[in-house]
Amino acid sequence: MALQAPQLTPDNIRDVVAAMTLEEKAAVLVGGGSKAFNGIGNTDKGVPGAAGTTHAVPRLGIPSIVLADGPAGLRINPNREGAEQTFYCTGFPIGTMLASTWNTELVEEVGRAMGNEVLEYGVDVILGPGVNIHRNPLCGRNFEYYSEDPLLAGEMAAAMISGIQSNGVGTSMKHFAVNSQELNRLHNDARLSERALREIYLRNFEIAVRKAQPWTIMTSYNYINGVHASESPDLLTGLLRDEWGFQGVVMTDWGGGYDTAAQIHAGNEMIQPGSDRRYQDIIDAVNEGRLALADLDRSVARVLELVVKSPKFKGYAYSDAPDLTAHAAVCRKAADEGVVLMKNRSGALPASHAEKIALFGVTSYQFIAGGTGSGNVHRPYVVDLRQGLADAGFLVDMGVDAFYASYMEDEAFRCNLINGKSPWYIDRERPLEAVPSEVIAASARTADKAFITFGRVFGEGKDRDLHYSYVLQERELELLTAVSKAFHKAGKKVVVILNIGGVVDMAPWQDLADAILICWQPGEEGGNTVAAVLDGSVNPSGRLPMTISKAYEYEPSAPNFPRISADKPFNYSFYRRLAGNKKAYDIKDIDYTDYEEGIYVGYRYFQTFAPRHVAYPFGYGLSYTSFKWGKMKVREAGDGWDVTVQVTNAGDVPGKDVVELFVHAPGKDMDKPERELKAFAKTPLLAPGEACTVTLHVTRDSLASWDEEAGTWAVEPGRYRFLACSDAATPVLRRRVRL
Ligand code: GLC
Repeated sequence: MALQAPQLTPDNIRDVVAAMTLEEKAAVLVGGGSKAFNGIGNTDKGVPGAAGTTHAVPRLGIPSIVLADGPAGLRINPNREGAEQTFYCTGFPIGTMLASTWNTELVEEVGRAMGNEVLEYGVDVILGPGVNIHRNPLCGRNFEYYSEDPLLAGEMAAAMISGIQSNGVGTSMKHFAVNSQELNRLHNDARLSERALREIYLRNFEIAVRKAQPWTIMTSYNYINGVHASESPDLLTGLLRDEWGFQGVVMTDWGGGYDTAAQIHAGNEMIQPGSDRRYQDIIDAVNEGRLALADLDRSVARVLELVVKSPKFKGYAYSDAPDLTAHAAVCRKAADEGVVLMKNRSGALPASHAEKIALFGVTSYQFIAGGTGSGNVHRPYVVDLRQGLADAGFLVDMGVDAFYASYMEDEAFRCNLINGKSPWYIDRERPLEAVPSEVIAASARTADKAFITFGRVFGEGKDRDLHYSYVLQERELELLTAVSKAFHKAGKKVVVILNIGGVVDMAPWQDLADAILICWQPGEEGGNTVAAVLDGSVNPSGRLPMTISKAYEYEPSAPNFPRISADKPFNYSFYRRLAGNKKAYDIKDIDYTDYEEGIYVGYRYFQTFAPRHVAYPFGYGLSYTSFKWGKMKVREAGDGWDVTVQVTNAGDVPGKDVVELFVHAPGKDMDKPERELKAFAKTPLLAPGEACTVTLHVTRDSLASWDEEAGTWAVEPGRYRFLACSDAATPVLRRRVRL
């Protein structure tokens, strides 16, 4: 009687692996994109629109699990063949906006809501959060990522992962690692020092692994110092597992890497989306002795560990009906705290509903909820600013409204013609900014205040063009100048709203506006969030998660970042196939990128070498109220110090504040940045006159720098300064600490 094949349980994984054929092992590691495996586990019928699946092996009770994007919400098809209902998912604020809240509890709450949609739509792992460092403002995927600072990015990632995984579903923190540009992303070699790696580009991943144990991690497409991230044993076994204690599964990015055997040997056990070639590669590599059976079995066991944790394995009866209304409220709450008030001269804001608003800017009427590519979400709706203002009870100037109503129709027609013909990786054509001078002149008489929204949207597969995306366009400047002139002449104020996925150039035009706020890409409730900040029902409490410099050329990475232009196609990944596994070309910033700035990324550079080049510092953000800080105390506690600061609301409206604790090190044993963020805390909502005491914990280990000679972390003895700052350029309270 043939031995009954063992049926997978959490306790018999070893036996199941032992009972598997080579084909079945290969099938478990290679995604469902491969149809070669003759098991009946091919899962086209998974969740339509999901990015990938794994193969089932019914003989052994191994189900297929489903993987779907993305960092701003679950991305699956909203409609299905023959299904009455729709499958929309909540479009949450982008990663950069979540980081701008500086509120890890709130981000965890977003994770709980997002993870519930993963669970209820029958998905097992969501392919997020995206955590790569904002090395340069032109990177096309910065919107999916959190910050220039690894502590802020790591804490946000940990909060998001914990929130999502509290639903019993998995995450895939990405892209591990050093994926800081999109140009030629499949072949670009990131060349950087061990210290920059450890202190900046790996530190965010390390914090999240240690704090939140993501079920999976997705390796990046690029090389790191000549070795493919997905083929590096040092990265995936030595560091990730042996040093940081990661216990999950590592998967490739979609089509990432080359040498399947090397990937599995290195500790990248899942090959997504999978192909017949990859499936056959594994079988051939084992038969030819290029892949040790022990490596294969170890990888299969890890994937089965993941499978037995999944809702699919547990037979969870998902509803296909998550509470999108409740999640929209969470989306709104997160967006409300992510708006950054950049300027508010002579009380331009908050505006009252009694004031008639002249609403300019095509983006006011076509709001941008999120970015493009895999980080997109099929949302049930997007509230634009026009609707948000109306719902909030604002009056708008009907002359301006009438103009945009017809103008936007014409532009929609023109854009659809163009977009209908462009492949996914071409930037969407957006409505061109209009400069209706008569309408502007008339509204300067009939309206009380002007709001102008400028928008920027970009995404995966390409970086931003300095002239078309980073600096303001001619027409945008014309519009702002004309409105500013007309309204200021009539003694009326102008407010600029930036609905952007990443930093834009601000210094040249900021004086034309009385108030400026950045609402990033706030998700489906965008217009309601901005209207609530504009009328003061929400007091903005966001803080910049990156530095905004006075000009792009001041960026420390500018000399080593690709500059795309019309004549240079923006995405070499489609053109620069490799000859075999060696580099077909070696062009600066395209085939390789020198991270010459080392650890001096963002404020670490600007506060140390060029504070005058900063337009708005990391951690900056205004409020409608003011806060006073006092009684800073530092006392030894456990593995470091507890720092307490009393925060009092000294203004006349309720508000939240953020205390950012930076540390200045002696810097005698090696060069150190002027100061580095080591802890942060956001207050609860404080009523006027109300005080609270925030506690920030700094660990001794977090003060260490990577000593390249010794090849280890080292904490320098000497006198440190603990600085309680309102932003990277503004210490408010100081205490000395001797180590
Ligand atoms: C894409 C992205 C990755 C995404 C994956 C699946 O190429 O780089 O972030 O999760 O493929 O869509």
